[in-house]
Amino acid sequence: MTILGIETSCDETAVSVVEGKGGLRRPKFKVLAHVVSSQTAIHAPWGGVVPMLAKREHGKNLIPVLEKTLNNSKLKTKSVKQQLKNKNEIEKILEREPELLEQFLKFIPTIKPPRIDAIAVTYGPGLEPALWAGINFARGLARAWQKPLIPVNHMEGHIYSVLVQSAKRKVQNIKIKFPVLALLISGGHTELILIRDWFEYELLGATRDDAVGEAFDKVARLLDLPYPGGPALSKLARNTQLKDSPWAPLPRPMINSPDFDFSFSGLKTAVLYRVNDLKKQNLFNDEARTALAADFEQAVIDVLLVKTIKAIEKYFPKALLIGGGVSANQPLRRQFTKHFAKHYPTINLLLPEQKLSLDNATMIAVAGYLRLIKGSTLKTRIPKKVEPLITARGNLTLD
Ligand code: KG4
Ligand code: ZN
Repeated sequence: MTILGIETSCDETAVSVVEGKGGLRRPKFKVLAHVVSSQTAIHAPWGGVVPMLAKREHGKNLIPVLEKTLNNSKLKTKSVKQQLKNKNEIEKILEREPELLEQFLKFIPTIKPPRIDAIAVTYGPGLEPALWAGINFARGLARAWQKPLIPVNHMEGHIYSVLVQSAKRKVQNIKIKFPVLALLISGGHTELILIRDWFEYELLGATRDDAVGEAFDKVARLLDLPYPGGPALSKLARNTQLKDSPWAPLPRPMINSPDFDFSFSGLKTAVLYRVNDLKKQNLFNDEARTALAADFEQAVIDVLLVKTIKAIEKYFPKALLIGGGVSANQPLRRQFTKHFAKHYPTINLLLPEQKLSLDNATMIAVAGYLRLIKGSTLKTRIPKKVEPLITARGNLTLD
């Protein structure tokens, strides 16, 4: 089955085409096209993502990104101009996205409906105006091409992103054995989840305040780094030897707490105090910034690793899966890989390919395929309310 995935939950406009094969016992994926258009430069002057700006940019970018994806996947077939099916309905669906509607009406009638089986779109969680641009676009395409629409939870996309190794462009077969422990670390989420079977999620713990990615971004600002902060901070941290730091290490909040929860706002405040101190003493120079960045990054990794090990020791999962934007962090990948190879060699460590750590539509198409073959959850309507993947502690699924 060929799935077109669409992702617009934050500041990436992404469209992918993924071929899925096999049932839930052995799903296999081949990425036919993967296009991500980042709006980073647009939001950088504001120091963060501005939701209405993101929506406007998605409106501008969705058709060009779709066209590029179809070209790359070789699914696009030019044809003589044809009548658009359900034009009135599409005008209604896209009435709040005028720029997108205009491009849609110009482009879609010039191509034959591509040979895809379904359209998967992120319906949440994310920035609401940004999400709606993608959702309405997907609804419009589903109407025009008469294809089923699969709403996908963004975090479920991050989870199943580990099933793809797209760079090799081969059909991959990464077998998942349950139970799986998932560590989800992104700009909006920090969660430890026990997945006992496909789509059965049990929340073990979560952040009580800032998400890890959010903490990276905020601390990066304190260190005068440009948006997006996470990668910039990590790059700066590379230049230091922590041993050389003359300051006491930053705290590792909740590292020894008896639960699986996290807290990162105190760590951010500790950085703020340190920065203020250094500024007072006229010592806030490149060396100090670098040392602080490295210490912060290591504090985060220490807490994540210790809490993950604690969950491993309690639940003995067959695999540990790490997903979300912060899983792109190199020292984190390295340290988890090293630790698990040494102490838990039988636990399968599943990391997304680096480019699939960050927001993309391949993971949405993958999760869409899995939902589609599960069958029972195929809905052609977008749920009115964006339900989180897990709404409370306990066994709650998306259905
Ligand atoms: O999953 P994602 O792309 O978007 C959300 O769903 O939130 O995650 C974005 C977050 C941002 O906070 C960004 O700073 C962080 O992931 N991030 C990183 C790195 N790359 C992205 N944090 C630390 N190190 C990185 N290399
Ligand atoms: Zn994400």
